[in-house]
Amino acid sequence: METMDQRLVSTWSNVNSSVPLSFVQPPECRPGKVTNPSTKTIPLIDLGGHDHAHTITQVLKASQEYGFFQVINHGISKDLVEETLNIFKEFHAMPAKEKVNECSKDPNGINCKIYASSENYKKDAIQYWKDTLTHPCSPSGEFMEFWPQKPPKYREIVGKYTQELNKLGHEILEMLCKGLGLKPDLFIGELSENPIVLAHHYPPCPDPSLTLGLAKHRDPTLITLLLQDQEVHGLQVLKDNEWIPVEPILNAFVVNIGLILQIITNGRLIGAEHRVVTNSISARTSVAYFIYPSFSRMIEPAQELVDEITPPIYKSMSFGEFRKNFYEKGPKIEQVLHS
Ligand code: OGA
Ligand code: NI
Repeated sequence: METMDQRLVSTWSNVNSSVPLSFVQPPECRPGKVTNPSTKTIPLIDLGGHDHAHTITQVLKASQEYGFFQVINHGISKDLVEETLNIFKEFHAMPAKEKVNECSKDPNGINCKIYASSENYKKDAIQYWKDTLTHPCSPSGEFMEFWPQKPPKYREIVGKYTQELNKLGHEILEMLCKGLGLKPDLFIGELSENPIVLAHHYPPCPDPSLTLGLAKHRDPTLITLLLQDQEVHGLQVLKDNEWIPVEPILNAFVVNIGLILQIITNGRLIGAEHRVVTNSISARTSVAYFIYPSFSRMIEPAQELVDEITPPIYKSMSFGEFRKNFYEKGPKIEQVLHS
């Protein structure tokens, strides 16, 4: 049987000059010629401005219309951003066996993982051109003993980075609460206490027109904060039936609304569909910070946003149940969310 280190795309993709059949997407999913004909972009928001009320309006508008935006002047130092991208690049550049070994410290195999393609590997009919390292990153430091220890500064840098992202995530959530008229502390505690980090690595691909790095999806999160490689394109957002590229901007974060926030806001905010295309020239690294609730927390439309005229359009379920549905149903999850 193939072992995980053999399966990682980075292990074999540089010795293959063509795309293996198991990675060729069906025609309706192929990106085709990836030349970015669109001139549209997602909103760019300066979080450092003095008019806080105006910033809130911008964040709310972008979350309602696009479900995606980028933020600059977010208060996270550019040195930390650079160190973080570099540490994950160095991690993915290590020998495959070492990567797998560094992700095998949890005897239950749950709290740190490296995988090829997607977490649903066995269920994916067609594979995706990517390797991913993921683990929980709660500010309390829980499970840190299972994180990689190589490269040597991994825990120090990723620990510092995820603390900062937790603060930024909460600032944005608080702005959304203010904009929507929700209690400003609604997302403090159980609804956001289970963050995870995912460090994706998309190796160069011999034929980007046939493959995808990541399938079209909505995130199963409250919100996601994404750091992307400074030079390499790949992420695209679906808006009005058109794929809009998300420009890599120096020291910016891409913020996107996840399905859970779509449910809690009773559809006022949208968890937009997005995907990642590959390229033939450079490897691309991205670091996603997923804000998740605790597994037992019920997810349902907020009281303040429902009444007789606007009844809840989603039913209540625990986050644990939601996540199970998400992995079983994939893109068809919306069928089970509606009340
Ligand atoms: C994700 C995601 C985008 C990227 O992790 O859910 O959409 O650019 N990542 O890697
Ligand atoms: Ni995503």
